[in-house]
Amino acid sequence: MKNMLVTGGCGFIGANFIRYLLNESDYAGRIINVDNLTYAGNPENLADIEIDYPDQYIFIQADICDGTRMAKIFADYQIDSVCHFAAESHVDRSIVKPDAFIQTNIVGTFNLLESARSRLDHLIRFHHISTDEVYGSLGSEGYFTEKTPYKPNSPYSASKAASDHLVRAYHKTYDLPMTISNCSNNYGPYQFPEKLVPLIILNALEGKSLPVYGDGGNVRDWLYVRDHCTAIWKIMKQGKNGEIYNIGGNSEMKNIKLVEMICDILDEMKRLTNNRSRRDLIDFVKDRPGHDRRYAIDFGKLSRELGWFPEASLEIGIRDTIKWYIKNQKWVGRVKSGEYQTWIKTHYS
Ligand code: NAD
Ligand code: TYD
Repeated sequence: MKNMLVTGGCGFIGANFIRYLLNESDYAGRIINVDNLTYAGNPENLADIEIDYPDQYIFIQADICDGTRMAKIFADYQIDSVCHFAAESHVDRSIVKPDAFIQTNIVGTFNLLESARSRLDHLIRFHHISTDEVYGSLGSEGYFTEKTPYKPNSPYSASKAASDHLVRAYHKTYDLPMTISNCSNNYGPYQFPEKLVPLIILNALEGKSLPVYGDGGNVRDWLYVRDHCTAIWKIMKQGKNGEIYNIGGNSEMKNIKLVEMICDILDEMKRLTNNRSRRDLIDFVKDRPGHDRRYAIDFGKLSRELGWFPEASLEIGIRDTIKWYIKNQKWVGRVKSGEYQTWIKTHYS
């Protein structure tokens, strides 16, 4: 792989992946990062990378829904591999306004597949980043495997499921060399503060209320974002053409327990000025419609076949994430201004 197209590289996981690839991995080629900078895309996440790797890193502001532009980028930059992150990614937004999810997640993925199809001779790998949410919701027992039937419940997960099917269909029909990974909930540096972990950290730091949906008994399997990046790179290099791999963190937890953990760690690091426990800030709010009860991932295939395991324990990962948000308050301020504020006002009013 010499010319890798990374889509959505200015978002949370994409930025962590580019940082990992250039700063830590053995990848020696170029990265062409295509991102149209939605509210969730922030080029500041890669400002140092632009300076440190002028020969290896190229940023292009472009929309994956623009098929002509994508085809030109594939040709101009001799793209030989793709790591496709770009998506609308927040379930709550997909419930309020699904339109962009259909466009970017389905039509955008289709455009990339078409560009890839027109360069099949040059293409080594199209890696599609997906989610465990395509499998739907579990009861208190069991795990998602790669064979679990798809049963998505939100417009977000349905749009991701559609994109997974398209990628797989291009492999079967046109021999497109591809892999797909379905991963559990990520947390870590650079995550936009609409998702549970950064939202709770930042509200708890400021002594604001901590919204927990429903009874707080919904379970997610949490994965530190760096561990997701090591898994993706392993799959891109060693994963078998046409295969699907689940990625998980072995860290199942009820939302309420996770929120309490964040409160306790923050109280230990930095008491509130009134000396109240941050657990008092927890506010059980109206549940999300169609809220999936439990996600749990069996990532045995990835471990057995490619020798991948997550490194970070949930507590250490959360501690490091809290420290990152405390240290990067200027980033937080800039990210929280503008469009995000408008969203909070309309969403919670
Ligand atoms: P994010 O919302 O932080 O970032 C998405 C990025 O895609 C942004 O930089 C945005 O500007 C860009 N983008 C959006 N629409 C675009 C378009 N039309 N053209 C070009 N760029 C566009 O998302 P994330 O959390 O980093 O998720 C990345 C990928 O990982 C997504 O495909 C998501 O479904 C998947 N995923 C996320 C998680 C998670 O916990 N965050 C878990 C499993 C899988
Ligand atoms: P989220 O971070 O939005 O990820 P996803 O919906 O993709 O799993 O939410 C994680 C869990 O936390 C989910 O069960 C919904 C819940 N949640 C809250 O309880 N309060 C919140 O303010 C948010 C954003 C999420």
